[in-house]
Amino acid sequence: MRLALLIIFLVFIVMQFIRPDKVEYIENSPYELKTDIKTMEVLKIACYDCHSNKVDYPWYSNIAPFSWVVINHTKEGVKALNFSNWEKYNYVQKEEKLKAIYRTVYSSMPLPSYAWVHKDAKLSKEQREAIRDWTGVRAK
Ligand code: HEC
Repeated sequence: MRLALLIIFLVFIVMQFIRPDKVEYIENSPYELKTDIKTMEVLKIACYDCHSNKVDYPWYSNIAPFSWVVINHTKEGVKALNFSNWEKYNYVQKEEKLKAIYRTVYSSMPLPSYAWVHKDAKLSKEQREAIRDWTGVRAK
């Protein structure tokens, strides 16, 4: 029993040495999305922690295995959509992203696990609709 505990403890310690890189923090990106304050407010509360270079990493993002999950979400999120790089997208890409936001803000985004921990990221119907209106894409 003691040996088992010791082994679990050692595995946990070794896990701490596997530290994936976090998303780079950029305070003033020249490519940052600029839009109305109301939209920015919702995006910052619910999306920026995975879709920007301004990720506010929680304390447990320093502890494996939580760090692996959180950092993976932020890296994959930034790859799919990065509001800090918005002005680097061309017209077609922006249209695509807006459509994807329209589609996901009512379903899969923000990720349920994130909304579960960050209560204020659990968007109300009004907040979701505001984002949909903002994307300017009409439902077919
Ligand atoms: C906890 C991290 C997290 C948060 C918070 C989050 N996302 Fe994501 N998002 C991801 C990840 C990871 C992916 C890429 C993998 C995937 O598509 O599931 C993604 C993908 C996307 C995509 C691309 C989907 C596609 O099919 O092209 C859109 C659009 C998106 N997110 C919008 C949002 C919006 C809008 C918000 C805020 C309301 C948000 N996300 C909040 C993690 C997050």
